[in-house]
Amino acid sequence: MLRPVLYAVFISSAIALPETGWYPKYHIAPQHGWMNDPNGLIYFQGFYHVFWQYNPAAPQWGLMHWGHARSPDLLTWEHLPIALAPSLPEDIDGAFSGSAVLLNETLTLIYTGVSENGTRQVQMVATSQDGVAFEKLGVVIGENETNFRDPKAWWQDGSWYVVIGAQTADERGQVSLYSSPDFFNWTPQGVLAQADPSLGYMWECPDFFSLEGKQVLVVNPQGIQSKGEDFQNLFQTGYFVGSWAPGGNFAVERGFRELDHGHDFYASQTFDSPDGRRLEIGWLGMWESQFPENASGWAGMLSLPRELTLSDQGDLEVRPLREIQSLRTERLEVPQTLHITPGEGVAILQNISHSEMALDFNLRNSSSNAFAIQLTKESFERDGGAQVHVDRNCSRVFLERHYPAYNITRSSRSVAVNLTGNLSLDIFIDGFSMEVFVNDGQAVMSSRIYPDAELRTFLITAQNGSVAVDRLKVWDLYLSIINAI
Ligand code: FRU
Repeated sequence: MLRPVLYAVFISSAIALPETGWYPKYHIAPQHGWMNDPNGLIYFQGFYHVFWQYNPAAPQWGLMHWGHARSPDLLTWEHLPIALAPSLPEDIDGAFSGSAVLLNETLTLIYTGVSENGTRQVQMVATSQDGVAFEKLGVVIGENETNFRDPKAWWQDGSWYVVIGAQTADERGQVSLYSSPDFFNWTPQGVLAQADPSLGYMWECPDFFSLEGKQVLVVNPQGIQSKGEDFQNLFQTGYFVGSWAPGGNFAVERGFRELDHGHDFYASQTFDSPDGRRLEIGWLGMWESQFPENASGWAGMLSLPRELTLSDQGDLEVRPLREIQSLRTERLEVPQTLHITPGEGVAILQNISHSEMALDFNLRNSSSNAFAIQLTKESFERDGGAQVHVDRNCSRVFLERHYPAYNITRSSRSVAVNLTGNLSLDIFIDGFSMEVFVNDGQAVMSSRIYPDAELRTFLITAQNGSVAVDRLKVWDLYLSIINAI
């Protein structure tokens, strides 16, 4: 008879974790344990630094640390030691989300310390000279608040500013603004924005930045009710566009809209690249959902870095980081227009695991009013899988998934797209993620998918007529993720 304690040791060292093919090859994911929000995105001393909400102890959310990786080019990532671990009375229940700035050549983090069983949230600072080892300097903003977290700081016109996610006394989401001459002594500057009752009870992870002469406020509301096809996820990442100058009010010109239209995109953060692009990374996940990869000892993934621009109409345009193209190894190029007719569908390729597919549909030469790009076995209806379904009757693009083996029931998300001319789709698959960029920046949809090996065939199907694909290219994408130093 084995004693229980020995039995537990035997189990953990002897059982190989399942190999699912879900571990990403060009996205950041934890090597073990749990990941949620990206934090502290910054370029410092020749490296892009990405931190994340991290539970090293188990592949579920738990005591929050800051995981850490860096990259010279946003392509090749090196995992580094944990940057922040709960250690002080004020962060003993967790080092929650926050951001990074460069303060007198020092990499400086501002993050939320959680204590008193999660009921007290304060803002704390830590610094690093080398970008690897961090020293905590303690609390800099300490109100007695339960929902007061996720500071995002920036420098503007001779002063530091920070926006913090908060809640009003009658439980509506709010963004609080503070300013400081030195990053340590902060003065409240009032409320930057507040939810009307339909926009949620708490706003997490605010982000506030200027883009092409406008000011963009990103918030992550909890508690918005779904409305038709919109706000279908438990929580959303969305944005307002308006104008603002230090000392003034944020005058909203365009109301709240979702930033990503898939099942899994949350708590994104933006930062400046040295060449002046506004880049964004989000968590490819959603609270209170299944994370089947955790059977392998790790859970979570960050999105591809994305480039944000603002259209003349005030819509955020989202494109994949252009450097990603350098990872491409060509797998397939269809040299002439492909006509897909109703029937069984055209199977294009098998074993799509870590790939990019670019498709241009010529809708003027297409009679079909509904067609789909599928990742399935032979039939999405029968076998499940994932599909991007284009419906010209309602002018929407749907991203649908169905993985009954992992208790992920069939559901779709959608976005309105003008479907009169051409439609271009740039689809990234990496292990268990699918990110669909529509019409060069017009919309993006990100969802987690959980295909077993046999559910990785890429098919195109059409209903009630044919569809013309003018361009079809597939690449495999690879990069190396280096282990911890
Ligand atoms: C958002 C969030 C943040 C918090 C963190 C905790 O996903 O709830 O508000 O800081 O995750 O891990």
